[in-house]
Amino acid sequence: MADTEKITVVIVDDIAETRENIRKLLQFEPNVDVVGVARSGAEAIKVSAETNPDVVLMDINMPDMDGITATERIRARLPGVQIVILSVQSDPNYMRQAMLAGARDFLTKPPDLDELLSAIKRAGEMAHQEKRKAANTLAAVQAGGLGTVSGTFFPARYDGKVISVYSPKGGVGCTTIAANLAVALHSEESPVVVVDSRVQFGDLTFFFNEQTKTDLGDLATRAEELDPDFVEEVLLTHSTTGVRILAAPPRPERADPVSATQFSMIVQFLKRMFAYVVIDTNSGLDEVTQAALDESDLLALVTTQDIPSVKNARLFLDLLTAYGYPVERVFIVMNMFDKRRTTASPERIADITKTEVAAVLPFDDRLVTPAMDRGVPFLPENKTHPISKGIFVMIRRIKAKIEELKQAEVDAREL
Ligand SMILES: Nc1ncnc2c1ncn2[C@@H]1O[C@H](COP(=O)(O)OP(=O)(O)O)[C@@H](O)[C@H]1O
Ligand SMILES: [Mg+2]
Repeated sequence: MADTEKITVVIVDDIAETRENIRKLLQFEPNVDVVGVARSGAEAIKVSAETNPDVVLMDINMPDMDGITATERIRARLPGVQIVILSVQSDPNYMRQAMLAGARDFLTKPPDLDELLSAIKRAGEMAHQEKRKAANTLAAVQAGGLGTVSGTFFPARYDGKVISVYSPKGGVGCTTIAANLAVALHSEESPVVVVDSRVQFGDLTFFFNEQTKTDLGDLATRAEELDPDFVEEVLLTHSTTGVRILAAPPRPERADPVSATQFSMIVQFLKRMFAYVVIDTNSGLDEVTQAALDESDLLALVTTQDIPSVKNARLFLDLLTAYGYPVERVFIVMNMFDKRRTTASPERIADITKTEVAAVLPFDDRLVTPAMDRGVPFLPENKTHPISKGIFVMIRRIKAKIEELKQAEVDAREL
């Protein structure tokens, strides 16, 4: 069926004459309605939000905000709106950037009428389709059928639980534990994704001997319009276990785009795709780490029996309490435990911190470090090994704690 609906258009260019020329070109087109004009990137965002057009004709070089940035922002807020870039440069690099920002088409200036009209028609039909799809999904959501996260709708597959593995001090085994916990929790019925939230110096993929071209940064730039297919494309699959991995950006200079809000949106989205989301965190309390802790159903606080590590765990728990964090979500995992050492026993640590020690993982340099060096999680091959047994104990406690927290919520509601 032909699309006879009118196509609404916004024209963006900093030069008045250019805007006027395009407007004149379009004024005799019965199916095209110019509903707004803007002189800058910032104005383009404002006018688009006010008019929700089908198509924005966007200039690139403008004084305050360039057209590529404006394209990205408009696409993030109004995913149905299609953007056609008009530029004097026909440089493929510009084109690539424009496409990455979410532009639908790219024309060189000045466009001839036929070229312009067919681009508007293609983009307009796409806009109508996407808007219809969104309206249908919205109707389904209102009927109670679907879940909604950050503006994107899709049926939730799981009511996933988020478990962060954290320590105020580095080098105590967080990544080792996150990787092996993910492997041990994972099954076909309850799939696991493990997330590297160490935006700048993440090293999780090394524990799985996997390399990636896509990472957290790719999801962050589209955090407001995620869809399951795109997320699947970005995730890695560990070849031997099937655990999914969300890698950190491979180089620190790629790390800046991830904000706390974006990270939270990503985690909320993953919860609907996976039964468990395991997050390996940074030992500092940067904003992404804070977002990870906020999104967590459970927080595994890793400590060793070294006095400074125990002291830090305790200070951290004090800090959480001071901030009103629900400390009932926290449990301690003692790693690198050596019973010959007389420093701090698990009982003593539970006593000092007033927090459950859910698992004690022995020091084992014959198994753990060589496994890391080879990039294979130790657990699948060594299920009866004491440290693996420790991980299984941890999982039993995690499952029990999830039930306890659920029950506490029910009780609180009944009060
Ligand atoms: N239980 C353990 N026994 C022996 N070595 C361990 C144990 N847990 C972790 N390690 C080793 O300690 C080092 C730091 O571990 P890692 O998981 O990278 O810590 P973090 O993520 O907290 O910085 C690695 O070399 C790892 O192999
Ligand atoms: Mg680590």
